Amino acid sequence: MKLLVTGGAGFIGSNFIRYILGKYSNYEIINLDNLTYAGNLENLKNIESGIGKGRYSFIKGDIADEQCVDGILRNGLDAIVNFAAESHVDRSIDNARIFLETNVVGTQVLLDAALRHKIGRYMQISTDEVYGSLGQTGFFTESTPIAPNSPYSASKAGADLLVRAYFETFGLPVLTTRCSNNYGPYQFPEKLIPLFITNALADQPLPLYGDGLNIRDWIYVEDHCAGIDCVLHNGRVGEVYNIGGNCEKTNKDITSTILTELSKPETLIKYVKDRPGHDRRYAIDCTKIRTELGWSQHYDFAAGMKKTIAWYLDNKPWWQRIKTGEYLEFYKRWYDDRK
Ligand code: NAD
Ligand code: TYD
Repeated sequence: MKLLVTGGAGFIGSNFIRYILGKYSNYEIINLDNLTYAGNLENLKNIESGIGKGRYSFIKGDIADEQCVDGILRNGLDAIVNFAAESHVDRSIDNARIFLETNVVGTQVLLDAALRHKIGRYMQISTDEVYGSLGQTGFFTESTPIAPNSPYSASKAGADLLVRAYFETFGLPVLTTRCSNNYGPYQFPEKLIPLFITNALADQPLPLYGDGLNIRDWIYVEDHCAGIDCVLHNGRVGEVYNIGGNCEKTNKDITSTILTELSKPETLIKYVKDRPGHDRRYAIDCTKIRTELGWSQHYDFAAGMKKTIAWYLDNKPWWQRIKTGEYLEFYKRWYDDRK
């Protein structure tokens, strides 16, 4: 199988490339990524000369660039897996424009090219955030109405609707996954878990939004990759599949776990002004992917967090280099507003 993976230099995309090349010795992958602040070729170090030798290649380019995408698809491909996105809610609140350009227009460009070149399977990597927020009870199923609350989730929902429309209108063989919050190696330290691990290691404050009681459903990234693999190969076209960790935690719980694992004091916690439009609770019902495709999780929260924390401890140069430059500018502006 020959795959185009977009956004493969980011967190989940790079983990997926490693997962697929490791599992299928005859698969070929082209990674298309325009290397935004979140894209990092260090995430794929040794792939070209190691497990991906002769069957992995990288192209720097924008998914919204029609010519670039067309040029790649002309070579003949079996499937596209679209991870490329602007992915951080706080940045979307700061400036929504690029979220629409990449997440919506970029998806449309990929869909049109997939149609022109008769690609066998188009996979959209989406998020549970398109469903909006839950109250104290209940779960998101695939038939929960879409009700996004942030510019990020609105852009992802827009993309999901386009994917659906290309199936209904043109019969394009599409598949969509909607996963809950991921954690694991190579996650950019702007998201809760890597931000708090790296801040705690540097004895810097951990900025908890609001009362710290918002709930997310956490999944170890490799389990998400295994779910995408199941859907890519065996999912029914036109369908949406939820993927979740069956692991609801408040942000306070996550913070305590990190501080305990690193033997750091609770005094590092700093309550800051809440994120505007902050979704209260996410929880996924993933009965469909379990029963239809036989997917199951391998890592529970304790095991996944141990692996994740160990990775950040072993890879200090990776995150220390990132936590400078544009990253610092964004955080200074964002947290100055939240004091
Ligand atoms: P990330 O921000 O770590 O990586 C995104 C990657 O996309 C980067 O390598 C970036 O350079 C690339 N990219 C951005 N704009 C591009 C463009 N116009 N053209 C080409 N490449 C571009 O994101 P992530 O956390 O790895 O998320 C990957 C996908 O999974 C996203 O679509 C996201 O919505 C979805 N998702 C993420 C989570 C999560 O918890 N992180 C959960 C569910 C779904
Ligand atoms: P995040 O990792 O940004 O993922 P998402 O918003 O896509 O779920 O945030 C996870 C949760 O952690 C969310 O409820 C917001 C909260 N949070 C903080 O309390 N402080 C922070 O500095 C960040 C980045 C997130």
